[in-house]
Amino acid sequence: MQVTETGSSMRVTASAPGKLMLFGEHAVVYGRPCLVTAVDLRIFAVTENGSRTDTPYVTVHASVADTVIRMPLTDVLTAETYPREAAFVLAAVRRIAERFRLERDLTLRTHGPQRSFGLGSSSAVTVAVVGSLNALLGLDLSPREIFQTAYAAVLDVQGKASGFDVAAAVYGGTLYYDLSREIIEPLAVPELPVVIGFSGEKVSTVNLVGAVAALRDRHPERIDTIFDLIAALTQDARDALLRQDWALLGELSQMNQGLLDSLGVNTLSLARLIFAAQAAGACGAKLSGAGGGDCMFAIADAPKLEAVRAALRAAGGEIVTLATNAPGLRLEP
Ligand code: PMV
Repeated sequence: MQVTETGSSMRVTASAPGKLMLFGEHAVVYGRPCLVTAVDLRIFAVTENGSRTDTPYVTVHASVADTVIRMPLTDVLTAETYPREAAFVLAAVRRIAERFRLERDLTLRTHGPQRSFGLGSSSAVTVAVVGSLNALLGLDLSPREIFQTAYAAVLDVQGKASGFDVAAAVYGGTLYYDLSREIIEPLAVPELPVVIGFSGEKVSTVNLVGAVAALRDRHPERIDTIFDLIAALTQDARDALLRQDWALLGELSQMNQGLLDSLGVNTLSLARLIFAAQAAGACGAKLSGAGGGDCMFAIADAPKLEAVRAALRAAGGEIVTLATNAPGLRLEP
């Protein structure tokens, strides 16, 4: 195990990947399935044990936000909210500390790319923290327990979330995810022929999930019918993925996009990118995640990939070059 002993203290580093939602966003919050692939945007958590004490302190160095937060563990366990820059880290510590007695000061450092394009850095940091504490404290949690612990922490911070991004961070690869039936199914697929385009707009997932919830309150039956259609497309897309039928996957992505439009989560800049990708010969394109900005992706046969990239740039998008199917949570040397 990659645990370094430094005097009386020990240090463990773990990393977890970000994610690209492929199919099923929003519907997955309401018990429908989704498809997600882990992307090679890794967030690292370094955890270190200090001296044994009756009153342990928790110190968080969040390098992306360039802040240090230090508080007694008793405050971590009772706080109503946490400072925004360390909210996911502290929620993860709390979920662990509620189950296992911490008897030493604890220092956590997190780092990752300066920009994360809305591709799952919060869930990745939460999973990396839980994974490194698991090793540091010798807790012997299974991947499933790490998922449950990190998902609970994400819910503490975010209120409403499906956990698909947490699953991608723990297991990596490409997953069919259906929490209502307790399915987290790894799919044996190769690197996906996708181009990811960033719209330039930043998004609050919480606000968009809230907007869709409000729409559903006004039209419960219609919106549930849309969610059922998204679920059926996701099911078809799972089969298309396994057969590596990119033309079919593209067609299905267009249909899913139409349904996302009907939920009101598309934007002009995302739509420009989606139409530009189609015009450049992509098999299909759709937004990825909550919508309202962040990223879209296009599926294209290999010979068309470069033309699709050029079209997305010309339409005002930024190409995000990240491998899909990335490995999940792991300990680092
Ligand atoms: O905005 P993102 O990339 O975090 O994706 C959110 C996806 C939703 O389905 C809208 C919410 C969720 O928790 O599944």
